[in-house]
Amino acid sequence: MGALRRQLRIAPSILSADFACLGAAIDSVSQETDWLHVDVMDGHFVPNLTIGPPVVAAIRKHCDAYLDCHLMMTNPGQYLEAFAAAGANSVSVHVEVGDTAALIDKCRRLGLGVGLAVNPETPIEACEDFLGQIDVLLVMSVHPGFGGQKFMPVALDKIAWAAGHAARSSLDLSIEVDGGIDASNAALTCAAGASIFVAGSAIFGRPDPAAAAAEIRRSAELAALREEAR
Ligand code: DX5
Ligand code: ZN
Repeated sequence: MGALRRQLRIAPSILSADFACLGAAIDSVSQETDWLHVDVMDGHFVPNLTIGPPVVAAIRKHCDAYLDCHLMMTNPGQYLEAFAAAGANSVSVHVEVGDTAALIDKCRRLGLGVGLAVNPETPIEACEDFLGQIDVLLVMSVHPGFGGQKFMPVALDKIAWAAGHAARSSLDLSIEVDGGIDASNAALTCAAGASIFVAGSAIFGRPDPAAAAAEIRRSAELAALREEAR
């Protein structure tokens, strides 16, 4: 396969891993992991609870994967230092929680990569003013809170809008898509402009997680090659 202009990344979401054997689950996909996606839920911004900085610190001790922490939290600002100290590489905060400029600034000061996440029902224009200040736009393709949901095609228009905006304004912005991603819709989202593909159940819910991640990668790569040949 020829060299792609766009760097594609597969980000397995540990939300669907067996938390009782988390280290082994992470190891099972390490060959196909570009970023490891860590879903942090506070029981308030979303109706579910997961994990926080202590687990990030334990993962950090276990492996050197790039830890992409998705903060589904009402008050992410109160925890950014803790995530940085735990060894997170990047965090994504939700545009819906507000105070976005200050949160971006704080992430930068802590040396964290900065993502801005946007829910399916939130207009993408809510992110417009921040696209030049972030590294990653995280487009949700499910309502956040639970793994194993069905991909929502509304994400495709948002990805295409953001990719167009980034290209026109020469922004160094990667678009990450999260929720219900599998090999078939990875191609669609890649064609729309996504380059980071979060997948939980389509990886950890399969008997061979590494093979499942490789299949998602192949499908996205083929779509990117087709786009680049157009
Ligand atoms: C949803 C999370 C996602 C999701 C990924 O709230 O942010 O990371 O769990 O899991 P799948 O791929 O199963 O939708
Ligand atoms: Zn996520």
